[in-house]
Amino acid sequence: MIRTIEWTDEGVVMIDQRRLPAHELYPVFKTHEEVAKAIEEMVIRGAPAIGVAAAMGIALGMQNSRATSLDEFARDFHNVCERLSATRPTAVNLFWAVERMRWVFNHARREASAIDAIRKQLVDEALAIHREDIEANRRMGRFGAELIPDNATVLTHCNAGALATAGFGTALGVIRAAVEAGKRVRVYADETRPFLQGARLTAWELAKDNIPVTVITDSMAGHILKSGEVDCVIVGADRIAANGDVANKIGTYMVAVAAHENNIPFYVAAPLSTVDLSLNSGDLIPIESRADEEVTHFRGEPITPEGVKVANPAFDVTPHRYISAIITDAGVAREPYDTSLNALFENRN
Ligand code: MRU
Repeated sequence: MIRTIEWTDEGVVMIDQRRLPAHELYPVFKTHEEVAKAIEEMVIRGAPAIGVAAAMGIALGMQNSRATSLDEFARDFHNVCERLSATRPTAVNLFWAVERMRWVFNHARREASAIDAIRKQLVDEALAIHREDIEANRRMGRFGAELIPDNATVLTHCNAGALATAGFGTALGVIRAAVEAGKRVRVYADETRPFLQGARLTAWELAKDNIPVTVITDSMAGHILKSGEVDCVIVGADRIAANGDVANKIGTYMVAVAAHENNIPFYVAAPLSTVDLSLNSGDLIPIESRADEEVTHFRGEPITPEGVKVANPAFDVTPHRYISAIITDAGVAREPYDTSLNALFENRN
């Protein structure tokens, strides 16, 4: 299994996703500031993975805290949480993980636990978030695999695989589970401009697992969907509003519209930690804008005239009317999503 992120005695180890597929490097991050920068700079990316990284960053920050009183320790904790929360705005898993860490801290503080005991509880919680994410992906895989026919061609956008999670993946987890169940599956991976998560990361993961993959540029997706070759589309999500609108990697919306136009099922696979019931509609989801250089440069070389204006929204929102089903770790939701998603939260235990 691909090792996306791990807690070790030396610090947090992450595979550097900026260097894949050419280099498989596992740098160690020793402070919460280093982990925060790793999230901002996309050493680690993907909604569930950055949630795990934020939790481990907080645990690391509190191990490094020099506080001698509980009040000082609480001040440090607040600052560390604020720093990690300011790294990326769209994926709700990050804020969900920070909230879990806050809950553990506040509970321990009310119990007047010793600083070292709180440190241990924070590490335990970060490890639980990591472990539970893999379990959730396995469950999602089992629910989702039933929707994939045998001998299927599936199109995906961005990377919603082991690299985007603690392991196994969401959209790629469904594909992996279908393959494990004995089905034959081929994948079209959109390259996913500008960061190339599809070309670099999805293709790398699937090739490692011997799942046949064909990379296409994003602008080829409409043509491929119209050709009749594709049985379904599966993508991950960064935040899902209560009405089922889905924020995911920029370009997802175009793929959903083209799938709808061609009567191809469009599935979203995401754990309940990606669902934000506090937002009624996808219009309220904050969309991250990233640096111009991601668009204007490739490997340090300019690919646009100097000084030209560019836009770089990192995510878009697919309206729920284009989504055939949302596959979660608690079951499959379908229209009307405001009731079906709510029901999954209520029945999950
Ligand atoms: O900017 P990224 O690479 O963090 O964006 C990732 C995506 O949009 C993924 O599709 C999403 O997080 C789902 S990951 C299981």
